[in-house]
Amino acid sequence: MNKTGTRDIETARLLLRRFVIEDADAMYANWCSDPEVTRFLTWPTHIDVEVTRSVLNDWIPQYDNGDYFNWAMELKDTGELIGNISVVQVREDIGEAHMGYCMSKAHWGCDLMPEALTAVMDYLFDVVGMNRVSAVHDVNNPKSGRVMDKAGMKREGILRQAGRNNQGIIDEVWHSMIRSDRT
Ligand SMILES: CC(C)(COP(=O)(O)OP(=O)(O)OC[C@H]1O[C@@H](n2cnc3c(N)ncnc32)[C@H](O)[C@@H]1OP(=O)(O)O)[C@@H](O)C(=O)NCCC(=O)NCCS
Repeated sequence: MNKTGTRDIETARLLLRRFVIEDADAMYANWCSDPEVTRFLTWPTHIDVEVTRSVLNDWIPQYDNGDYFNWAMELKDTGELIGNISVVQVREDIGEAHMGYCMSKAHWGCDLMPEALTAVMDYLFDVVGMNRVSAVHDVNNPKSGRVMDKAGMKREGILRQAGRNNQGIIDEVWHSMIRSDRT
């Protein structure tokens, strides 16, 4: 694994970049304060912007670590901060990155997260040298599964009552791409 950390990635419509503390207000307003966004996530809806600021204060120093991958999603056209895509767990022994993502409701349904996930997977395979990129979603949150499908991941199966999020104990649907799936 090449510990290259979080580097800027550009796609057709997005700049994926490191978070800065000045992102707190937009991050809070655009997704962290929205219970519809956090419905199937593992962290609680932020009750005020100070919670968002303290999350950023925890994240930003971690950019010094080469195995920390956490991108802010910025719309290139407007500069608006619309979401977050990150590696939530690295397993160095098998070269695996496990992904998480969320985005402002105002931009759902525009294929933006598949665009981000595709670009991040390219980076993780081609630059970091990962062998497997995986992701899970709540069986009741199929639109997240569509993101995984559209980015080219394969559905692996369901682990019953194997996870927990804001809905309680959940059945997890696993997806992945492995290096040999790529053409
Ligand atoms: C899951 C999420 C990232 C999808 O991102 P996105 O950029 O909207 O993805 P897509 O445009 O590919 O849409 C995915 C699916 O969402 C559904 N969808 C699209 N627009 C929608 C809308 N306005 N409202 C509800 N669902 C919608 C569709 O089923 C779509 O699939 P389709 O294109 O095959 O019809 C986004 O909905 C989100 O941030 N949700 C909350 C956080 C979350 O659940 N994260 C994943 C945890 S595993």
